[in-house]
Amino acid sequence: MDIIKINDNSDKLYYIGGIVRDKLLGVPSLDVDITYVGNAIEYCSKFGEVIQENPAFGTVRVNVDGRVIDFASTRAEVYEKKGHLPVVTKIGCSLEEDVMRRDFTVNALAMSVSTGEIVDYVGGLEDLKSKLLRVLHEESFIDDPTRIIRALKFRARFGFELEEYTRRLQEDYLAHINYNMSYKRVKKELIETFNLNSQRAFEIFVNEDIYKLVSPRKFVLPDVNIEELIKKYPVNNVWLVYFGLLPDLSRMEITKEERKIIVDFRILGALKTDFEIYKAFQDLALESILLYGIAKDMNAAVRYLDVLRHIKISITGEDLKRLGIEPSPEYQEIFDYVLKAKLENPQITYEDEIALAKKFKN
Ligand code: CTP
Repeated sequence: MDIIKINDNSDKLYYIGGIVRDKLLGVPSLDVDITYVGNAIEYCSKFGEVIQENPAFGTVRVNVDGRVIDFASTRAEVYEKKGHLPVVTKIGCSLEEDVMRRDFTVNALAMSVSTGEIVDYVGGLEDLKSKLLRVLHEESFIDDPTRIIRALKFRARFGFELEEYTRRLQEDYLAHINYNMSYKRVKKELIETFNLNSQRAFEIFVNEDIYKLVSPRKFVLPDVNIEELIKKYPVNNVWLVYFGLLPDLSRMEITKEERKIIVDFRILGALKTDFEIYKAFQDLALESILLYGIAKDMNAAVRYLDVLRHIKISITGEDLKRLGIEPSPEYQEIFDYVLKAKLENPQITYEDEIALAKKFKN
């Protein structure tokens, strides 16, 4: 999404956060955040149809010429419960106060809507040039540990580095993690990070112990380039192929479908023959097969994905009925018998399969 033009001469209206960073970097932005120095609900509702208001946060969502824009009042916050959503202490504070509650200097830039002037209270422009992520105060990660994952996301997305002091604060935090944190927010940031499909991000995640936020048990980087693997075998849920490798996911809220993908590959033992591989993988999500490959046996996963999954038997239950075989669990045995033969020799024809079914019966 790009900057949108709002016809308003107020000197109190600012693009803020990610959108300013992205505009200066020359990359498209995911969303448009605008802040009003004062009460945004009162001032910004005139820009279009109001879709939603949240008085507790002083925010209002407005449809401006067909685009949904979030307007926020400038606000000050405190983290009463570390690792959880902050509590708003003031709505309509100064722009500077609003900026000081944010995660990194590069995300604390504001741009006047009316003049385009950049307002930089914290040295964000300099850090943007040097590609550095710098927290605004030493409690930043203690207040909100999801910022460690956000930093990883920005490192992967833009090739940024952690500024030295910020790196030390990260190390300190990871050596003394407070596990009482909002894992819902952690999950959101992890999904956005791993969906970038970046091997570098995963290596940092493991080598810098960031994974311990989620899963404290020792984890060693697998000897597989997962980014390349996913490029070769594209999946819907890229993040799960990274995330599913972690040994302890008990803190995370995961859906039934996500859990299935993660559990399915774990319960599989060694797969020796083509038939075993085929039967184990045929009903599994591609994500699970890749996870099995990474964690257990890549040869088996690749053998299935490159060769075996394309092999299918042609005969059906109808064919067996025509052969005079009564429907029963024996059908499955016959299909497996034919499948075994076809995996050994994929060239066999439908007629060969019929012959095999007859042979099985006799
Ligand atoms: N922010 C913060 N701490 C967080 C999350 C967000 O300080 N844990 C602030 C940052 O100033 C950020 C802004 O809120 O720029 C908006 O948050 P969000 O939309 O999540 O981040 P973006 O920087 O826009 O990143 P993305 O491009 O991934 O949406």
